[in-house]
Amino acid sequence: TYVVTDACIRCKYTDCVEVCPVDCFYEGETMLVINPSECIDCGVCEPECPAEAILPDTEDGLEKWLELNAKYSAEWPNITSQKEPPADADDHKGEEGKFEKYFS
Ligand code: SF4
Ligand code: F3S
Repeated sequence: TYVVTDACIRCKYTDCVEVCPVDCFYEGETMLVINPSECIDCGVCEPECPAEAILPDTEDGLEKWLELNAKYSAEWPNITSQKEPPADADDHKGEEGKFEKYFS
């Protein structure tokens, strides 16, 4: 599966949603997540994200994000079309420590 990491927090560009063939993105207040049991591993979302927030879970050190994606995709609503990002999205692109600062 692919997973959304903390780079998405407060950026939420949602380009990813537009290309996913199986509509497996779910939306929280500060970020999106992927449902790992619905993702078909096609990889088309990864290069679409301007914040480089999406990675394959085959990369090292992503266990925390995989768990978070699995947990919240079961709780948050499905999002199937692109929407306006937050007005200050670009200010938070590439910012360090976003999970600790902003995730709720
Ligand atoms: Fe959707 Fe493909 Fe990205 Fe999985 S890898 S979330 S199926 S676009
Ligand atoms: Fe987030 Fe990137 Fe999608 S910022 S909403 S994972 S395009």
